[in-house]
Amino acid sequence: MLDRSKLLLVEQQIQKLRDDIHHHNYLYYALDTPQIPDVEYDRLLCALQTLEKEHPELVTADSPTQRVGSQPLDVFSQVTHIVPMLSLDNAFNDNELYEFNRRIIDRLHIEDQQIEYACEPKLDGIAISLLYRGGILVQGATRGDGTTGEDITQNVRTIPSVPLRLQGDSYPLILEVRGEIYMPKAGFQQLNETARNNNEKLFVNPRNAAAGSLRQLDSRITAQRPLEMCAYSVGQVEGGELPDSHIDILYALSGWGFRINKEIAKVIGIHSCCDYFKKLSEKRDALAYDIDGIVFKVNSLHLQQTLGFISRAPRWAIAMKFPAQEEITQLQDVEFQVGRTGVITPVARLQPVFVGGVTVSNATLHNRDEIERLGVMVGDTVIIRRAGDVIPQIVSVVEAKRPDNATPIEFPQQCPVCASPVVHIEGETAIRCSGGLVCVAQVKEAIKHYVSRKAMDVDGLGEKLVEQLVDSGCIQSVADLYDLKQEQLIVMERMGEKSAANLLRALERSKTTTLARFIYALGIREVGEATARSLVQHLGNLEALMQADNETLQSINDVGPVVTKFIIEFFSQESNQGMIQRLRDQGVNWPDVEVQKADLPLAGVSYVLTGSLDALNRDQAKQYLQALGATVTASVSKKTSCLVAGPKAGSKLVKAEQLGIDIINEEQLVELLGTHGVNI
Ligand code: IVH
Repeated sequence: MLDRSKLLLVEQQIQKLRDDIHHHNYLYYALDTPQIPDVEYDRLLCALQTLEKEHPELVTADSPTQRVGSQPLDVFSQVTHIVPMLSLDNAFNDNELYEFNRRIIDRLHIEDQQIEYACEPKLDGIAISLLYRGGILVQGATRGDGTTGEDITQNVRTIPSVPLRLQGDSYPLILEVRGEIYMPKAGFQQLNETARNNNEKLFVNPRNAAAGSLRQLDSRITAQRPLEMCAYSVGQVEGGELPDSHIDILYALSGWGFRINKEIAKVIGIHSCCDYFKKLSEKRDALAYDIDGIVFKVNSLHLQQTLGFISRAPRWAIAMKFPAQEEITQLQDVEFQVGRTGVITPVARLQPVFVGGVTVSNATLHNRDEIERLGVMVGDTVIIRRAGDVIPQIVSVVEAKRPDNATPIEFPQQCPVCASPVVHIEGETAIRCSGGLVCVAQVKEAIKHYVSRKAMDVDGLGEKLVEQLVDSGCIQSVADLYDLKQEQLIVMERMGEKSAANLLRALERSKTTTLARFIYALGIREVGEATARSLVQHLGNLEALMQADNETLQSINDVGPVVTKFIIEFFSQESNQGMIQRLRDQGVNWPDVEVQKADLPLAGVSYVLTGSLDALNRDQAKQYLQALGATVTASVSKKTSCLVAGPKAGSKLVKAEQLGIDIINEEQLVELLGTHGVNI
């Protein structure tokens, strides 16, 4: 008897934990509004796992612990869709969309009325059918040919946004929910990053990654893939009522625990559909997932029924597609481009092809590793992808179409522009031209960078013009820009008197700038806008930067040893010093900046960290000290105020002792941080 009541108690505990976990799952995965921290969620799940381990007889298929995957299958079994899974007709422009609307109006004889449409992003993933009986997920199936799909229940169970059981009690007894399983962009990047690090084959795009993840016979692999499910319609429905409009059905699905798309909207009339399409096109790149179009559906179920279906698609819905982002074309040649810092990048010359809304004839091949990974040869048929504003990429090679005369891609031994030897720096995948400013390509890129918007912002001096000016010998470095004369400019292509005068004015205007812009414009390797700003904040003027030593530079937030080396190298070159002097003589000027001397408690104190630390790592210790105003440098000198020495400290400790510098251990550091409110 006692055992029975004990078991009952455990059952209740398990039920309560499952309810809580389901609820938090819903808040997190369906609504994106978590209410408890991840650790608390993990704690609940762990408690449930422990109880289920002790009582395996109480484990049910809808328990949230069952998302980790189960024993591999030999084969997927087949599933018949009682309500066929149809596809959608496509529209590729406004006219085709208007024709779709016209067909509906004609069929419904409602000339002067406007149709109410539901607008939804068309998710680029895999269609899924989820069958719930009595609110419990009993089957997940792919679309297949629309009538027969594959049973992938084990796999869909592992996806956190697929409810294992429905919420509330108003759902129909039998409910088939349809939607898309997709991989968000961030998850896809991460998955490929890991694959790259492990030298594994990369996925071509999020859709392929989602498809590959769902096709696994071993659901434990699927469980590790970042997949999401979003509901967009229903199939079989028995033993219950649904709302009478599409949008309201989606809201009902949301209430039962499904994720629905946040961008869905109800609009009146086809013109509003066009507006919606435009608005979402602009937002497309910022979305967390790939979409390949917008789906417009007649919102009223009654009208949907009247309209019915034609062949395999409903008359009441259409997918307005974005231009394809992937296309097939031929790699005709590979050229090597020299960048501002001498990096030589292989660029694919392609048979021009229309993709992602523009004609593409070049794609980057990044570096030797990328070429090896793709296994690409000149003459190959390749698939290229242009998504958003991203530069076109070659994603794969169609090896079956390789011609007999395909040739391997040879890397140059000499710079293709200045013929200086090419160097392969250890630890870098890139190869570089060693020519520096002897190399016209590097000079051109340096000038383009100097005049660019975020640097000196010279309006009207585009890339083509810079190239002409260098090629015609008018300019050899950025300092020559300010000596340009009207008569030199007007002979350039597409240059009239007016534009020449405008350019001279823009050059004059650019002379008054900020120190951060000027430093960025110099094009020192690894010095981006943020680093330039950081340098200015800490050093205040250019002289201080030009004279700064290793320690001073490294004590600045975000400035590590690599960028320090490049900064020192840059300013130690006489040609660079001469160029800066010339620019200043020509009138380039900026106000100096007051160095931020915050009233921080450790301002003016300089620390060195050595040996191994335990409670916090060196980076953390450095960040905490810097946050309190201290500087943290790499080596001990007379300027060092204090050495923090952990176990295994070596030469720095010896030197600090010799110089009579204060030495503290980690415990004392933690105590010191504590007195300033930083509790470890
Ligand atoms: S409705 C009868 N809505 O697009 C209507 N489909 O050919 C059936 N898709 O592979 C589909 N997002 O998986 C619909 N919001 C959405 C969708 C969507 C993506 C996919 C669907 C199918 C294809 C339609």
